[in-house]
Amino acid sequence: VAAGPTFTELLSARADADGFVPFDRWMDLALYGPSVGYYARRANPPGPAGDFYTAAQLHPIFAEVVAHHAASCVPSESGRLRWIEMGPGDGGLSARVVADLARDLGARRVEVALIDRSAAWLAGAEARVREVADPLGIPVTTAGSIAELGPVDGFVFANELLDAQPVERYRWTGSAWSELGVRLRDGTVVPAERPASRAGPGLDPAARWETGTIVERSPRAEAIVREVGDHLTAGRVVFADYGAEESELVAGHPHGTLAALRGHRPIEEFLAEPGSADLSAFVNFTRIRAAARAGGLREVGYRSQSETLVDWGIEALVARASGRLTRSEEKVRLQLAVKNLLFGFGTFRCLELGAGPAR
Ligand SMILES: C[S@@+](CC[C@H](N)C(=O)[O-])C[C@H]1O[C@@H](n2cnc3c(N)ncnc32)[C@H](O)[C@@H]1O
Repeated sequence: VAAGPTFTELLSARADADGFVPFDRWMDLALYGPSVGYYARRANPPGPAGDFYTAAQLHPIFAEVVAHHAASCVPSESGRLRWIEMGPGDGGLSARVVADLARDLGARRVEVALIDRSAAWLAGAEARVREVADPLGIPVTTAGSIAELGPVDGFVFANELLDAQPVERYRWTGSAWSELGVRLRDGTVVPAERPASRAGPGLDPAARWETGTIVERSPRAEAIVREVGDHLTAGRVVFADYGAEESELVAGHPHGTLAALRGHRPIEEFLAEPGSADLSAFVNFTRIRAAARAGGLREVGYRSQSETLVDWGIEALVARASGRLTRSEEKVRLQLAVKNLLFGFGTFRCLELGAGPAR
């Protein structure tokens, strides 16, 4: 089998005429580049043995709360619910949600769609969800984007999808913005910088910042939100992510928020081994909320994870789940997971949006 192009070959094909590669182009390749990107390779699924974990892997109670809320958004007693997860990771959350929805609504009222840009992760998630859905006769559809599904009606959930999108990075030099990126020097990828030729981070042109302030922007994340708005004809979408308002990000993170994780540990030298670490950056919710409005989505909630889970009924659901458990060890594990879900995701925000007429 002929080996595909290397990371360096793919990167040089994406360089501008002056050899500069903007940071978002490098990051896109490092995460999603064919055969070389972190998500294209699917080396380590999330969880204790992987590089990162999310609320989805913490405990089944998370899925139970999400499923309960999704079910409460179904239009009528007899209505069907299409559960749509974007970026389903290992498929564990969707598998549990589908089982919970089937129990609470009846399998005949449930459908599933899984959307992932990475074919490798999508196949893994589909297999995991089918283990639950197929025996219950629940239809499962897969797609690379919501646009591929066409107009859809349902409950869309995206956990840590937007923070996994490539970001442009800008640095304030004291008098202007410069754009951060990389260059190839003797076959090695090195950090590079050039005067910002694009619009820059789009902040108030009259304002001034500390020299060296770094600001990130993700037009890709904004485009995903607009795309959901364009295709969701009725129902809800929830984006749950690390992030904050733009003013909080600029003031609170003057060196930017880009993070590389391998084996749950932060890595400083992430340029050296692209594709071997997860990369993420906080979501700029000021831009994301504006993109949602531009996409015709109506804001239902913009809250912390704990406020969201409380509003979605976690208290009663924990009592119900605890009642089903027989071993005290399992009950303690449930309590610890709830504590973590409510108090361990301090910089996490859940943006819930509605499409079509209010339900
Ligand atoms: C950080 S992982 C989160 C996985 C999972 N939601 C969880 O909480 O464990 C991000 C996922 O989003 C997927 N992804 C990235 N861009 C996407 C896009 N434009 N559409 C759908 N999925 C995407 C990645 O391939 C990956 O599976």
